Amino acid sequence: MDKARIVEVGPRDGLQNEKGVIPLATKVELVQRLAESGLSTIEAGAFVSPKWVPQMADTAAVLATLDLGGPVHYPVLVPNDWGLDAALEAGVREIAVFGAASEAFSQKNINATISESLKRFESVMHRAQQAGIRVRGYVSCVVGCPYEGEVAPRKVAEVAAELHAMGCYEVSLGDTIGVGTPRQVQAMLEAVMRTVPVERLAGHFHDTYGMAVANIHAAYAAGVRTFDASVAGLGGCPYAQGASGNVATEDVAYLLHGLGVETGIDLSRLVATAWFIADALGRAPASRVAHALGRPA
Ligand code: HMG
Ligand code: MG
Repeated sequence: MDKARIVEVGPRDGLQNEKGVIPLATKVELVQRLAESGLSTIEAGAFVSPKWVPQMADTAAVLATLDLGGPVHYPVLVPNDWGLDAALEAGVREIAVFGAASEAFSQKNINATISESLKRFESVMHRAQQAGIRVRGYVSCVVGCPYEGEVAPRKVAEVAAELHAMGCYEVSLGDTIGVGTPRQVQAMLEAVMRTVPVERLAGHFHDTYGMAVANIHAAYAAGVRTFDASVAGLGGCPYAQGASGNVATEDVAYLLHGLGVETGIDLSRLVATAWFIADALGRAPASRVAHALGRPA
């Protein structure tokens, strides 16, 4: 049976854009329930400036409750050496650096040009490797940018290749504002796959136009086997106005299971988790599958 890996990003990408304060206990219960739903990689937070993204300020406190040496991986975002220091202090085994294929987005999101950001990441990578920590790389705006419009596949391929060459074990390609359609995703992947082997790529689709599941299907057909997703379709990027949440993890699991692909996910537990976090945030889950399967009794 074919297998795919789902990287759950709900506790980070999903919650980073929330305006209200989310109690630490709610975040911790969310992460625990996700692990119990069979997810083996759960992005648990971000060591970014709390002035830029207040919602991630308690990342160290979330990590302190988790078994960081166990079978489940809990990576966190790290933009610079300062973030790496915090990640090392917290005892994480994996981090993710995050760059962009669009200059304007890079500037708004991390206050650096693309080339400055890559220099920062090299320093982070060097120190992370010395500490035995795995590093994943993100490229944002792989199809469109909220400030620059369409993004050329060649630009995505260049940034992805730099992250891969630097030592990122995987490069996650982000349709940050969820504007892509399968044809664009296919063209972008064709360009990227000329510079990075497809086994080292992941798809990260936001669902603004409801195209994320179709885009995942297209990426799957192109050979991608790792997909990022956010339970209940939570999220959005604070520096990408109008961008909705990630594709919902339960929708991706339903799609992949329907294709006969193993994910390790227990769909009914995951749907219960979607309702748990939706209730905690005071709104309904954004996914179709959570509604179709309904609130657990
Ligand atoms: P800056 O202001 O240029 O940083 O921000 P700086 O080095 O000049 O430092 C300014 C202040 O920030 C100093 O504090 C530093 O100590 C502090 P002050 O002296 O003013 O009190 N600082 C930090 N604090 C905590 N953690 C740190 C850190 N670094 C400096 N790591 C910086 C540059 C990168 C820090 C800032 O722009 C930032 O934190 N950006 C993060 C934005 C973010 O988290 N965006 C969302 C995640 S990306 C995303 O969602 C896309 C993705 O999902 C993929 C996709 O969908 O495409 C991954
Ligand atoms: Mg994202």
